Amino acid sequence: MVETMIWRQEQQLLEVLDQTKLPQECEFIACKDYQRVKLAIKRLEVRGAPAIGAAAAFAMVLGAHECADKPDFLAALAKVRDDLISARPTAVNLAWAANKQYALAVELHEADTPPYKVIQALEAAAVKIYNEDIARNQRMGEYGAAVLPQQAGVLTHCNAGALATCGWGTALGVIRSAHAQGKIKMVYADETRPLLQGARLTAYELFEDGIPVTLITDNMAAWTMRQKGINAVVVGADRIAANGDTANKIGTYGVALAAKAHGIPFYIAAPVSTFDFSIASGQQIPIEERAGEEVKYFRSEQTAPSGVNTFNPAFDVTPAELIAGIITEYGVIQAPYIENIKKLQEQSEEDF
Ligand code: MRU
Repeated sequence: MVETMIWRQEQQLLEVLDQTKLPQECEFIACKDYQRVKLAIKRLEVRGAPAIGAAAAFAMVLGAHECADKPDFLAALAKVRDDLISARPTAVNLAWAANKQYALAVELHEADTPPYKVIQALEAAAVKIYNEDIARNQRMGEYGAAVLPQQAGVLTHCNAGALATCGWGTALGVIRSAHAQGKIKMVYADETRPLLQGARLTAYELFEDGIPVTLITDNMAAWTMRQKGINAVVVGADRIAANGDTANKIGTYGVALAAKAHGIPFYIAAPVSTFDFSIASGQQIPIEERAGEEVKYFRSEQTAPSGVNTFNPAFDVTPAELIAGIITEYGVIQAPYIENIKKLQEQSEEDF
């Protein structure tokens, strides 16, 4: 599978795979400054919560270069961090990575480390975030594969694959691991309107890897559950509250309701960096709203009257009671979520 981003150490630049052009074209964008990474995040050229987090970690390195000569290095870097975080509000991995990088810069700067050494440390930390994401996804994949049945008919929504992460994927990582164990009969991929991450990215990824995949439109999900023997749903996440309420791509909530009605277990797959332990419930998750043009157009073709009102939330929140389990790199969390997410927080604290 093609890489989502490549850090060029000698040139100090980040190449980002332009996911808006997939699957027809496979092109990389050279980001020489943090502003170009921010734009790539905004435009969804790089997308998916963990991939956005890693891109932000590298963007902080580029930002630190720009701040190195400023009279107040830390104040300038804080502005870079805040600017990056403003690019997309829902995926918490973005704030997680930018804040983590900023905290490292503060620690080193306060110990009188010269800026060029701070930049080197930020670079090493970004590379670590990138590499660890792949390793964590692989661990998550093993835990997730264990909960899937033999002859699994799995439905997924959006793209929570290698393309949404630094490699392997979260929901698709679980599917990849289960496929390696011979458990996958068929994956049903929702196309995921309005931006078609399911059709353009999930169908592409699975097809390329020889994993059996059938593409459906979003409005076919409930009927497909009934007709095609679906026995598990696995999706990714953009932010998980302390009570297990989970934000993911718009449409996920409807899939969870349909799964409940059919008695199908609905799983979330996400790393600890997608948990927001500071918020009590999904009500506090900021939901990104995007331009109405995304609804009024099917790619470049207009499909609705120009002046019509639109509502275009990019994410929705699935209440914890609809979730059978949250697959993480530390194991599968089940209800009672408040208690078990607290335990996850304590368990993972040493690693972060
Ligand atoms: O708007 P996107 O494409 O960034 O939305 C992506 C999703 O909703 C994914 O399911 C989520 O980020 C998990 S990615 C492993």
